[in-house]
Amino acid sequence: MLYEPIRFKNLTIKNRVVMPPMCMYSADTLGFANDFHLVHYGSRAFGGIGLIIQEATAIAPEGRISIHDLGIWSDAHISGLKKIVDIIKSQGSVAGIQINHAGRKSKTDDPMGPSALSYSSDYQIPREMTILDIKRVVSEFRDAARRADEAGYDVLEIHGAHGYLIFEFLSPISNQRSDQYSDGKVFLREVMEAVTSVWPKDKVLGIRISATEYVSDGATPESIAEAINYVKDLGLDFIDVSSGGNVLVKINAYPGYQLDLAKKIKELTGIPVIGGGLITDLKMAEHAISSGRADMIYLGRVLLRDPYIVINQAGEVGYEIEYPVQYIRGKKL
Ligand SMILES: Cc1cc2nc3c(=O)[nH]c(=O)nc-3n(C[C@H](O)[C@H](O)[C@H](O)COP(=O)(O)O)c2cc1C
Repeated sequence: MLYEPIRFKNLTIKNRVVMPPMCMYSADTLGFANDFHLVHYGSRAFGGIGLIIQEATAIAPEGRISIHDLGIWSDAHISGLKKIVDIIKSQGSVAGIQINHAGRKSKTDDPMGPSALSYSSDYQIPREMTILDIKRVVSEFRDAARRADEAGYDVLEIHGAHGYLIFEFLSPISNQRSDQYSDGKVFLREVMEAVTSVWPKDKVLGIRISATEYVSDGATPESIAEAINYVKDLGLDFIDVSSGGNVLVKINAYPGYQLDLAKKIKELTGIPVIGGGLITDLKMAEHAISSGRADMIYLGRVLLRDPYIVINQAGEVGYEIEYPVQYIRGKKL
């Protein structure tokens, strides 16, 4: 099933393999895409990936993780992003983008977050966001979604994981507010309402979440699922399930370590999930799909070292798939 198509609304994705967002910190300091991004995403499209979700792309300059993040905070970014979209689509892959505000984990000058609590001693203490800040960020998410549509992406993923702004609101560790936003789902809902006011109804919308913080006082699969259930009437086509990132803690990672979390989130929300974590063997990915632990599988780091794993391992998993015509002479026999 890994190599079989999956459909969301009118969009057919040719297989169940996802390249998850991975920051490359390779944009110029104004957030513009360049030749690196075309080669990087283009190679994975040539490698037969079904859905490529572009790295966390900043909705505001102060929402960047680093000053070399890709940006989508101005209309001037659209043409560069469109080139990435075009090269991805040229190979029959689906182009997605993750939009992000880094909140207290921004390494820019003046980070802000739900509360004045830093992520670690290596990070600045963020400014506690005012209501005005919150309203501005909500509108920045909306404008980013509109630009993503204009650039031609077919899939939009809101970054609600890894201790960035949305997750900071959802975690009792980073959100100690006493106003209406003390319940982080209120902020999530405002972001979702803003995004869905411009993101076309017939295009695919998802969210990435961290399903656990690996500490007893943090968010849990249940609390995250509750937040998702609070907003899902607005239309969420998938949940991309990850973990951690809001507290410095050692994660015991092993092949497939986040698949049980994906299954749990699917059970609690009824929404299709993308799962993964340290998967390098596509037989394992196939099994995760066929046993119902996830609907799609992300391959992160392995795709950094081997963009062609999907076309090269197809035979081992028992599938015959199209090989890029230019490379057929190199196909494994
Ligand atoms: C270099 C690098 C950059 C990453 N950047 C992002 C990102 O921008 N957004 C995100 O949600 N996750 C990010 N991640 C996490 C990956 O999407 C993925 O969930 C993680 O690497 C686990 O999958 P893997 O074990 O297959 O690599 C990043 C991971 C790596 C290695």
